[in-house]
Amino acid sequence: MTQLDFRLDGRVALITGGSRGIGEAIARVYAHAGAKVVIASRYMENLKPVADSIAADGGDITPFVCHMGYTEQIRELTRKTVETYGTIDILVNNAATNPFFGNMVDAEEIAWDKTVSVNLKGYFFMAQEAAKVMIKNGSGNIINIASIAGMSPPPMQGIYAITKAGVISMTKGFAKELGPLGIRVNAIAPGLTDTKFASVLIQTKEILELALQHIPLKRYAAPLEMAGAALFLASDASAFVNGAVFTIDGGAVV
Ligand SMILES: NC(=O)c1ccc[n+]([C@@H]2O[C@H](COP(=O)([O-])OP(=O)(O)OC[C@H]3O[C@@H](n4cnc5c(N)ncnc54)[C@H](OP(=O)(O)O)[C@@H]3O)[C@@H](O)[C@H]2O)c1
Repeated sequence: MTQLDFRLDGRVALITGGSRGIGEAIARVYAHAGAKVVIASRYMENLKPVADSIAADGGDITPFVCHMGYTEQIRELTRKTVETYGTIDILVNNAATNPFFGNMVDAEEIAWDKTVSVNLKGYFFMAQEAAKVMIKNGSGNIINIASIAGMSPPPMQGIYAITKAGVISMTKGFAKELGPLGIRVNAIAPGLTDTKFASVLIQTKEILELALQHIPLKRYAAPLEMAGAALFLASDASAFVNGAVFTIDGGAVV
């Protein structure tokens, strides 16, 4: 081998949380690299404009509604993806939530249940469903979008940080279990990125100033800056990468 192949021609990629932010950026990059892309989120009115725009650029893309907190909807999403494109080669587990901002000691049970059901249970059963398809193919690629919060819990985001630590552990566990079956499983751990998810952090001057103190590059990321690693991990250029966690945070966690 003397050249690296970053193309995804003909591969089927399922991206959860693809209606905006990091998921949308990955969908655009994958479609541009030749993949057939399914984007999923809770609301078709959010998905459709993104799908239409990617299709207008020549991409092959289909949007499906799926709430990642419900395993029956995850199974239905898997079924519809296979029905539409024949298989799943790449899963990007990306949709997550963080409904509670405050001290863990004050957190209500409902905040725990909601965060764990989407960020942890949703990721787990989405990976399991996709893996069942990939095992039949003897190949596949799962990319979990974790967070640096899973490595070093930030203040007021304790439950979210617990789920992201779980995603990192899940990535390593699946990587060991599925690697021998031809399926690679890796994670990306973004730092502060300019999306709706992080809008309160970025738009609150005091919080942003505090965050930037810990980022050596002295800025936050654009969503597209997460997509390069997602393309690398999905492509054959990363053929020997398995169980890895790529931190993309401007050097915040070193
Ligand atoms: N932004 C950051 O600073 C940052 C840092 C570290 C890690 N991350 C991680 O990056 C990933 C993407 O976040 P983002 O920053 O791109 O956020 P975002 O712009 O708010 O996008 C979140 C996406 O998830 C979907 N979604 C939310 N809840 C869902 C649910 N229950 N079921 C299905 N889809 C759901 C949303 O679509 P609908 O509203 O249409 O459902 C949207 O497409 C997340 O895993 C997040 O934890 C983000």
